[in-house]
Amino acid sequence: MTDETSPGSPSDPSDLSYVASFSPGQGFAPARASQATGNVQLSLNGTWKFRYCESLRDLTQGFEAAGFDDSRFDDIAVPSCWQLAGVPGPPRYGAPAYTNVTYPFPVDPPHVPDRNPAGEYRRRFTLPPDWDSSGSAVVRFDGVDSCFAVFVNGAAVGHSQGSRLVREFDVTHLVRPEDNVIAVRVHQWSAGSYLEDQDMWWLSGIFRGVTLVNEPAGAVRDFFVHADYDAGRGTGILRLDTSSPARLSVPELGIAGAKAGIEHRIPDAEPWSDEHPRLYNAVLTSPDSAISFRIGFRRIEVRDGQIRLNGNVIQFRGVNRHEWHPETGRSLDEATMRADVVLMKRHNINAVRTSHYPPDPRFLDLCDEYGLLVIDECDLETHGFAFAGWRDNPSGDPRWLPACLDRIERTVERDKNHPSVIMWSLGNEAGTGRNLEQMAEWIRGRDPGRLIHYEGEPDAFYTDVYSRMYAGYDELDAIGRRQEAITADPEHDEHRRRLPMMLCEYGHAMGNGPGGLAEYTELFDRHPRLHGGFIWEWIDHGIAQLTAAGERYFAYGGDFGERVHDGNFVIDGLVFPDRTPSPGLLEAKAVFSPVRITIDPAARSITVANRHHAVGTQAYRFGWTVEDGGSQIATGDLEMPNVPAGDVSTAGFPRALIDAAASAPDGERWLTVTASLAADTPWAAAGHEIAFAQTLLAPGKPSAAKPATPARSSGRRLTLGCAVLDGDTGELRRLGPFAVRSAFPDFWRAPTDNDVRVAGAWRQAGLDRLERRTIAVERTDGALRTRLRVAPAGVRFGLLAMLTWDADGLLSIHVAPDGSWPCPLPKIGLRLVLDAAVEEVSWFGRGPGEAYRDTYHATRVGRFTAPVGELATRYVRPQENGNRMDVRSLTLTGNAGQALTVTGDPPFDFAVRRWSPELLTAARHTPDLIPDGRTHLHLDAAHHGIGSASCGPPLPPGHSLAARTVAWTLRFSA
Ligand code: GAL
Repeated sequence: MTDETSPGSPSDPSDLSYVASFSPGQGFAPARASQATGNVQLSLNGTWKFRYCESLRDLTQGFEAAGFDDSRFDDIAVPSCWQLAGVPGPPRYGAPAYTNVTYPFPVDPPHVPDRNPAGEYRRRFTLPPDWDSSGSAVVRFDGVDSCFAVFVNGAAVGHSQGSRLVREFDVTHLVRPEDNVIAVRVHQWSAGSYLEDQDMWWLSGIFRGVTLVNEPAGAVRDFFVHADYDAGRGTGILRLDTSSPARLSVPELGIAGAKAGIEHRIPDAEPWSDEHPRLYNAVLTSPDSAISFRIGFRRIEVRDGQIRLNGNVIQFRGVNRHEWHPETGRSLDEATMRADVVLMKRHNINAVRTSHYPPDPRFLDLCDEYGLLVIDECDLETHGFAFAGWRDNPSGDPRWLPACLDRIERTVERDKNHPSVIMWSLGNEAGTGRNLEQMAEWIRGRDPGRLIHYEGEPDAFYTDVYSRMYAGYDELDAIGRRQEAITADPEHDEHRRRLPMMLCEYGHAMGNGPGGLAEYTELFDRHPRLHGGFIWEWIDHGIAQLTAAGERYFAYGGDFGERVHDGNFVIDGLVFPDRTPSPGLLEAKAVFSPVRITIDPAARSITVANRHHAVGTQAYRFGWTVEDGGSQIATGDLEMPNVPAGDVSTAGFPRALIDAAASAPDGERWLTVTASLAADTPWAAAGHEIAFAQTLLAPGKPSAAKPATPARSSGRRLTLGCAVLDGDTGELRRLGPFAVRSAFPDFWRAPTDNDVRVAGAWRQAGLDRLERRTIAVERTDGALRTRLRVAPAGVRFGLLAMLTWDADGLLSIHVAPDGSWPCPLPKIGLRLVLDAAVEEVSWFGRGPGEAYRDTYHATRVGRFTAPVGELATRYVRPQENGNRMDVRSLTLTGNAGQALTVTGDPPFDFAVRRWSPELLTAARHTPDLIPDGRTHLHLDAAHHGIGSASCGPPLPPGHSLAARTVAWTLRFSA
């Protein structure tokens, strides 16, 4: 029997009771600021010796001994996740496993199964020549998943749980100048795993850096920067608390060797914000040591029911960020972290929630530097207890209190000096309970200067903000009006109702989507109580794999033989696993734009609303372009006065624009106004566009009626314009240069992940297996009309379609429901299969990217050209994609230059693919999409919206496609 609350002595290497102990660890040093370890450092990253053990019974006796012969151990990289060694090839040690809520082991806390793999790590090291042996030696682990024991030169040092949290051990008494051995035993599962049930891959090992830190005897162990900003007076208020006497210098502020602990009032301090991340370099000196760090003055507070930064009300245009790389998992290098920050800034993102654990500390340095608001979340989630109605939830069980407090202390102490961190989050989906409340109390005592966030307590009675995830539009509107449903405890209800509100998660970006972001933004803008939110989530957690033929693709849950898994629910980011922006990120960029431009062509004016909270618009250059039928006819700069933060300003059209607008149009005439960076920034070059708006100045000239070409017929063959039809069956045989294999009305699309609420009904209604019955084929002077009934097997309802070709190759399509449909339709369109592979398409309509009725804000009307291969969006799990919207005309060109043009009235949607919707529907991974040598052309009148229902609410109003009568025309010419 082992005592679960007090694990065995760290000095007994055979005592493994710490693995299933409630205790967060033993033998470790107190938590402190990441910046405090700025002295001589020896990185222990690199190649370590490694042995993978299947269970505790399989451990190597004496592996920690200094003289142990590890020559038969493997080599492994530190940092890394051991399940990903070998990737993109087959995993070498165990395998990654993905679950969302379900624990992949029996819920039997604090116990874990016998099958509990461990990794034995060993590394030799020599102290560097400048090592101060009169000082201390501390070994720092930035992240080890999930539980580990440390030995130096054979002696046990301590053990720890809490995977995504830093842990330090003092090893001064154990290290010697040369020939040291550090040995670490890491366990895949531990009691700590019950507190780490985040929706992500289960991965193990020393996945963040390991460092040996040398600190002179008089060095400051820890310090806390309090850099407040009084916006009313424009004053910075600076005080540094230090663990031992030290002196502070901030040359730019004229502070030189001032005693730590005293308050400095800086009259003209420039505040830090995400929009203007002003940092001051500082040095803290104590005998024999100097620590460099950066200070940002800012005040985050809730005042008058609103969240304010430096006095200004803020709105989060945020994302949830997991740490992810498709080959190294949760081990990230600095270049990858920087790439995330730069991509976020370029896409108008101003905030990050570090879901659901504190990130690698270097990420926060980048947030300070580039300007991102951070909600720093503690490594705590117990979601799997929800399946049992939260019975025995660790959040309410006093035996887990030390672990919960240890976790929040390690979060706050490490990151307390980052100006970018404006809120502490107690964790995610851990139910509610007294331990969480005590964590909040602890924060209030330690760091009253920041806000406290937690979403899982419905009454928010121990937090400073009311936070929700995936609230629907109507509910959000009610919350915005402070008219949410009343909860049980009147006191708590009143408290919550006074709080500002934010969505810590919304806009579920799984697969194609998220849609409906503009509707959310409209609510955020309408209600002062609402402070925006954080899209779920930043990146798809796909794992790089290779097919037998060597084609690279991304794997998801279930691809590694997991018996319990949640499939592709882990593929729900705004960037693909390799960080290619998805259409969803472009949509987010458009709705997040920090300036909003509106054009009034009648009044010949342009209005700029500045949605920044801290900066004016002087950083932007405004430009205008007039295009006729997609060809530029004039362009110029727009003189806009500086619009202060939160303000609106209107300017008249400049002369050159008035002239360009007045000239007689040929094609449709569009005005586009852009805001782009006037100068280089650390995250984008001058010219980078941050916002645009468009307006139609004049419709195109109606195209001159061509003399009608008479219909020609020979036998069954009937030629109408460039269309050749079978006059008996009504079947289309050819369109100009392209032989046609089939052409028929179509209502199916490969369901997107966000179609989840309707896809079942679509399948049940048989929309993926429609039958066609030709009712009649009517030939009348130079025209051919085919009447069809399209319907699934087994039911009465269906659709009636009428396809009428006239002598010029003009096709009129009329579709009407027959009977009552039990569900909305995926789309209403015409599907054509051409026998040849089309190489390139060009179109006049919305582009360049894909768009659907609730995801089009990043696209603009213009003329675009793209190879067919580039029209597809390679969603990790293949699904409907690549639709182009509001298209007036489309030209398809084959490899011999043969071309076919389609002109639509009203504008139509198109997709051109190298595979059928059936293949797209069945595909599980991108290599399943094998071109069939044909061209699948979809000319659609309407699509069902996209939304974010894979985790969020149903579509916003108006975006569902009910079965209804639709008529549209398509003119084909070659
Ligand atoms: C939330 C959760 C996230 C993620 C998301 C769905 O409930 O906090 O971790 O699971 O749903 O993708």
